[in-house]
Amino acid sequence: MDHLQTFKNKEKFATMKILILNGPNLNLLGTREPDIYGSETFESFFGQLCSAYPQISLEYFQSNHEGELIDKLHEVGFSFDGVVLNAGAYTHTSIALADAVSAIKAPVVEVHISNVHKREPFRHHSYLSAACVGSIVGLGLDGYRLAVEWLLRR
Ligand code: DQA
Repeated sequence: MDHLQTFKNKEKFATMKILILNGPNLNLLGTREPDIYGSETFESFFGQLCSAYPQISLEYFQSNHEGELIDKLHEVGFSFDGVVLNAGAYTHTSIALADAVSAIKAPVVEVHISNVHKREPFRHHSYLSAACVGSIVGLGLDGYRLAVEWLLRR
């Protein structure tokens, strides 16, 4: 039974595809306001994440353009097993991104590195939260790992 379960898990993980999608200004992680976002680049973090989860296919895409983020959600949204989305400031402005999240089949987990609720009032509202399966805020880059872990175990 245990062996069978392990085998099934391996089979599941082997086919799992997860996209990490970062929005505007997140290409500057490492140098951008390090007191808020830390001093690690996303590329370095993503390398570690891939090493920690060799059994799944992790893809990373970042864009500063709203339409490109929407196009990417459409591209993967019917074939991938999950998306981890940090839409940056579009979180607080974009009904179009929220509609894209609602339109696709893949579950989307919203992540914010900083605790947006402790910051300026305009960061307290997310158009995306209601369309996402859940949100992780304020746990730094570890939030992305926790989101991946959740998608794996669901
Ligand atoms: C952010 C929070 C947003 O308010 C901000 O615009 C970002 C980053 C975060 O990860 O904490 O760009 O999404």
